[in-house]
Parts: sequence; structure tokens; C-alpha cells
Amino acid sequence: MVLEGKAVFSTMLLLSLITLLALAVPYLSLDNGLVRTPPMGWMAWERYRCNIDCKKDPENCISEHLFKSMADRMAEDGWRELGYQYVSIDDCWSLKTRDSQGRLQADPERFPSGIKALADYVHSKGLKLGIYADLGNYTCGGYPGTTLDTISLDAATFAAWEVDMLKLDGCYSNSSVKAIGYQKMSSALNATGRPILYSCSWPAYEGGLPPQVNYTLLGEICNTWRNYGDVQDSWDSVLSIIEWYGKNQDVLQPAAGPGHWNDPDMLITGDFGLSFGQSKVQMAIWAILASPLFMSNDLRTISVNARDILQNRLLLYINQDSLGRQGKLIIEKKPLEVWRRELVKGQYAVAFMNKGTDGTPRDFPTCLSMLNITECATGYKVYDAFEKEFLGEMKLDTPIDVIVNPTGVVLLFIVPTC
Ligand code: GLA
Repeated sequence: MVLEGKAVFSTMLLLSLITLLALAVPYLSLDNGLVRTPPMGWMAWERYRCNIDCKKDPENCISEHLFKSMADRMAEDGWRELGYQYVSIDDCWSLKTRDSQGRLQADPERFPSGIKALADYVHSKGLKLGIYADLGNYTCGGYPGTTLDTISLDAATFAAWEVDMLKLDGCYSNSSVKAIGYQKMSSALNATGRPILYSCSWPAYEGGLPPQVNYTLLGEICNTWRNYGDVQDSWDSVLSIIEWYGKNQDVLQPAAGPGHWNDPDMLITGDFGLSFGQSKVQMAIWAILASPLFMSNDLRTISVNARDILQNRLLLYINQDSLGRQGKLIIEKKPLEVWRRELVKGQYAVAFMNKGTDGTPRDFPTCLSMLNITECATGYKVYDAFEKEFLGEMKLDTPIDVIVNPTGVVLLFIVPTC
């Protein structure tokens, strides 16, 4: 009798556990198999903002023409082959009202063919289409938001349009709505059956750090997340992002991995604000940080120099490393910083950044063991990633004198000889 009682009790326990799990699972897994390496592509916001005046500025306004033009460039100018895959719409694409069935609708003047036709076009170029929504009453630009009531409908609408990525922003809502909504959208996207990369701006609205931000949960429900302020077209802005990532790396670094990445925001190389050297810094640190690489620039007029940086194969190889381990700031010696990322097969990428603005290149005398690269006792082959140059085979104590320009970077790629 006693045994039977125990059995009944365990069965009940098991049943309630199963019920609990069944309730929990839809919220606790973004089961789309996407982005085993950080996503790459192009996104409209930083460069094109909410420019909706197509009469005055037909080439640069937020319209299907803009996205088709960028898709053309990505397909024809070598971007797609290098992995730049997503063409992503940001804010200001919709009408200010939903349609009679409550669905979001694209502005018919700027998107006369509709989003589904745009997705078809982008797909015909071998690329993927991203779209933007905002968990709140309005988008940041004042367009209709996605409220808790419309999450499923909006997910279904995006899937019906065959969209491949959703950036879900967080203006005009509070923390409790976000705590429910971001998980709910994750499940709603899963429920569509279409693999849709899910980029969550949630942490950026909660200060980016625990206890407000739960990175374990984020990794389970989102593919990428913005944790800090918007990138602007300036060195100050890029530097402030790098500094925030360095300062908070013990929290941020373990959160990243295959399928789920920290997103320090768009690449602004090719725009107006960065020097050639500063553009290299952004690209090098974004590679070390295993960041998504979404360019926001004009691919129709981009300079050869900017293209060289963004299409540097070794930089992209480092960014896309399959180990998926985010790098860290390992040495600070003002105004120099050393950032290091572990790669597959015992390889490393090390960025030496000079934050100084005094105009003088700085020396950083070092060697592999000082960079804590010691596993392969016979030494390593060392390459300069931007100069595309083989610097030689180095023993662990061979002196390496790195000279770094002001607001510039040197990126070494280091391969074991063992
Ligand atoms: C927020 C986001 C930006 C962009 C704008 C659009 O500021 O962080 O990336 O999407 O909204 O209004």
C-alpha cells in the first residue's frame, strides 16, 4: 500500500512536471537553428534614418527602391559571396494605421509592390529580407507598434510575407510589457514555422546589465540583442560602444555563442564620420567581439578603401570563427588597449588599438607569451590582417614591436605551428 502511494505520488509529480515543462517550453527556446556564426548584412537605419520624402530624395528615402538597389549591389559587388546576406528594413516603412484586419501595412506610395514582393526580389538575388517592429504603442519613429495583443498577428504577417529576420525595438513600452512581450514574440515566431532571425533590443532599454537583464534567458529566446545605445556617425560614438563592451565584458562575453550574439550595432564604415584608421578599428573590434556585421552605408557609392575594409576576408574569417567565442580586452596601457579572441584550432586574433589623439603612432613592444598565447611551444605564424602581410614565425618570446596609429588599430592573426 505504502509503495502504491509512493507510485501515485511520483506519477502526479511527473504529470505536474510535464505540465510545467509544456507551459514553459514555448517561451524558453528559440528553435530556429539560425546564426551559428554572427549574422552579416545591411541595415537602413544609421545612414537613411526616417527619410520618407521620396519626392525630394527618391534615391535615399525609405522605399522598396532603396532596398532593391542595395540587394542589387550586394549580389553584384561581391558582398553576398562573402556572407553579407540580410538586407534589413528599419523603422518608418509602414503606414500610420493598421489595415481593416488589424495588420501592419507598408506605405503603398513608398512600397508600391508590398513587402512580400520585396522579399521575393531579395530572395531572387540569393539574399534574405529583414524587417523592423517595436514592442510598444509606437515605433521609435512614431509608426504603429506591436502591442501584446498583436504579437501573434504581426509574427504571422511577417512569416506570410516570407521575411527572414525581425528586429524588435522597444520604444513606448515599459519593463513589464517587455518582460512578457519579447518572450511571446519568440514563441510566436517559432509558431510560424518559418526560421526568422530574431533580434531583440530589449536589453538596450534595461541598461544592458544584470539584474535587470537576464542574459541566460536572452540567449534562449533571441538570436541577437542590442545592449547599448545607438551607433552614430562619429568616432566618439564608436569608441563609447567599445569602452562599454570592455567595461562590462565579464557579463557580456559569456552571453555570446553560436545562435545568440551581443550586438554593438551597425558598421558605419563608408559613411562620413570615421577616418580610414577609425573604420579599421570598428571592423577589428567587431570581429574580436563576434558581433553581427550589419553595414549601414551607401553600397552604390562606397569608396574602394571602405570596401576593402568591409570585404577583408581575414577579418570576416575571424568574425565568423566557428568556435563562436567572444573576445576580451586583455591589456590596458593608456592610450593603448589589447583585445584578444580565441579562435578554432588554437588560433588567435589580437587587436592593438590606440585611443590616443595626439597624432603620434605608439609602440607596443610585446611577444606571444605576454599576450598569454603559450599553448604551442614551437611557436606561431603571425599575420597582419589589414596589411595582408606575413610577419614571420615567432617563438613564444620573440619580440614583436607593434606600432599603432592614433585612433587606429593593428590586427594580428596568429596560427600555431604545432
Ligand atoms: C531605435 C533603435 C535604432 C533604430 C531606431 C528607429 O533608436 O535603437 O537602431 O531602429 O530606433 O527609430
